[in-house]
Amino acid sequence: MTHTRLFSSLPLFLFLLLFSFTNADFNVTTIPFNHGYSHLFGEGNLVRSPDGKGVRLLLDRFTGSGFISSSMYQHGFFSANIKLPSGYTAGIVIAFYTSNGDVFEKSHDELDFEFLGNINGKPWRFQTNLYGNGSTNRGREERYRLWFDPTKEFHRYSILWTTKNIVFYIDEVPIREVIRNEAMGGDYPSKPMSLYATIWDASNWATSGGRYKVNYKYAPFVSEFKDLVLEGCPLDPIQEVPVAAMACAEKDDLLETKDYAFVTPERRLAMRRFRQRFMYYSYCYDILRYSVPPPECVIDPVEKRRFKDTGRLKFGGSHRKQSRRHSRNSRAVSIIEAEI
Ligand SMILES: *[C@@H]1O[C@H](CO)[C@@H](O)[C@H](O)[C@H]1NC(C)=O
Ligand SMILES: *[C@@H]1O[C@H](CO)[C@@H](O)[C@H](O)[C@H]1NC(C)=O
Repeated sequence: MTHTRLFSSLPLFLFLLLFSFTNADFNVTTIPFNHGYSHLFGEGNLVRSPDGKGVRLLLDRFTGSGFISSSMYQHGFFSANIKLPSGYTAGIVIAFYTSNGDVFEKSHDELDFEFLGNINGKPWRFQTNLYGNGSTNRGREERYRLWFDPTKEFHRYSILWTTKNIVFYIDEVPIREVIRNEAMGGDYPSKPMSLYATIWDASNWATSGGRYKVNYKYAPFVSEFKDLVLEGCPLDPIQEVPVAAMACAEKDDLLETKDYAFVTPERRLAMRRFRQRFMYYSYCYDILRYSVPPPECVIDPVEKRRFKDTGRLKFGGSHRKQSRRHSRNSRAVSIIEAEI
């Protein structure tokens, strides 16, 4: 091994070592699919596993598919073991997210994982985002690579939403934390949300800003979801806010005692390492878009140096801001074209 190769692989090695320390599984209670979720769209393309613990969501030339939690939750922990389709997957989006867009059309809240397929030989990428109270003109996207191949085995993807913070986890590594801040106002999600999982054709933006489309020669595209976790305060979304706050106080407290509610110093270090190494776009550093970073942004000098003034590591041509309607659940997806 040459010196150059040794030095370039050393940080990755240290990173993986650090991850192996933070790798004690969360203590979660999983539920069978039918106990918490139901079919959302895509007749025939949602296939339940024989043991009832999971489902496959398929995309073929006729339709994608999706499921939704049977209840809405005021705060919670939403989690699944997910395996993504392998091979040529350009143009495909697999979303694992919470939203109340069907109930609050103009003032919806949303927390997203969106996995973006790729051409052969190029890895999946993903983005996280959040909206509160219909703030769809203030996208808070971040985009990342992964430190493993998400098509080879299952990994746990989780969204924690409490009164105080939001944490996106991959396995036991927090990859993004949004700490609630008064200045965010309604932009911090505040109303009960459902959990959704969907696979769909997003040929016009998912891969390299729409350059590579879904190729149905490789269909069906199969994603798998199992070991599902739904913790939180199930609530009718029409409850008045003060009533909801009272009804959920106990569950909110319980949520905050859970293992995954603690971003320990060790986890925080893993998060920092992940972000310095695998994040390739963040709205917090995109001064072309936000001359003043939104109030929840915590500016890390190391990240800032990497991103310079653009929030992007490289320009992939255009950086148009676009709003698109989700085909199946009319969710507005506002993304910035930051693909490399
Ligand atoms: C896991 O959680 C359950 C229920 O919340 C609890 O009874 C149990 O003691 C926990 N186990 C560990 C190892 O923390
Ligand atoms: C949410 O938005 C509505 C307008 O759509 C506004 O009246 C309300 O005050 C906002 N709520 C918060 C908490 O900002």
